[in-house]
Amino acid sequence: MEEVFHRTIKSFVLRSGRITKLQQHALDNYAQLYCIPYDADKKLDFASIFGNSSPIVIEIGFGDGEATYQMAERNPDMNYLAMDVYPPGVGALLDVIHTKHLSNVRIVHHDAAEVVENMIPDGSVSGFHIFFPDPWQKKRHYKRRLINSTFVATLVNKLKEGGYIYCVTDWEDYAHQMQEVLRGEKRLSSPFEGFADKGNEIVPWRPQTKFERKGLAVGRTIFESYFVKTC
Ligand SMILES: C[S@@+](CC[C@H](N)C(=O)[O-])C[C@H]1O[C@@H](n2cnc3c(N)ncnc32)[C@H](O)[C@@H]1O
Repeated sequence: MEEVFHRTIKSFVLRSGRITKLQQHALDNYAQLYCIPYDADKKLDFASIFGNSSPIVIEIGFGDGEATYQMAERNPDMNYLAMDVYPPGVGALLDVIHTKHLSNVRIVHHDAAEVVENMIPDGSVSGFHIFFPDPWQKKRHYKRRLINSTFVATLVNKLKEGGYIYCVTDWEDYAHQMQEVLRGEKRLSSPFEGFADKGNEIVPWRPQTKFERKGLAVGRTIFESYFVKTC
């Protein structure tokens, strides 16, 4: 019998974090407008979801959605599909989408590993953004890290040719692991020899995120990896 690999080790632990009234209100009232329900048997039709054929960027682990909404505001000719599992963050981003009338952002409130694998058509995505994924610092937890060769191969299947994967972390050993995994995927190549240079004109603009500020506050360095699907 053919063995099918299912990712059972999760890259997150669902915390029951404090949720504000505003976030809960947004979850109760706006989820049906801007959240796409998870359905393992359904591939998404982006043209009908967004009502246009603009390029699709997927952000995995958007946190409080600060980067998502700022990029969406700045790039109205791009569509952003944002994925996270953390209810307060989903509520926060829903509130911003609604109050700022952002028509180019949708959310899937579910494990991105499953969403990408089951709901995203092959060859349909222009870019993946993975900003400050949980570092899982202890060696015995490395297997929970989102960036591994199996997941990267899935991301590449979903990319259009010329599409990119943009990963950022402030954990040096995870940054090197990202480089190793991304360089090990034959269909990807980077315009940079190692991490992306500062001030380059290749990598898309992004705002500083909440976790980036936390890292910088304790003196950490930010490592950016940028790879393009070449075949
Ligand atoms: C360290 S936070 C970074 C948040 C944000 N990108 C930032 O830079 O401030 C990592 C986020 O990834 C989310 N996350 C982890 N694994 C995930 C998964 N498999 N699917 C969706 N979200 C995930 C967590 O819930 C959390 O919000």
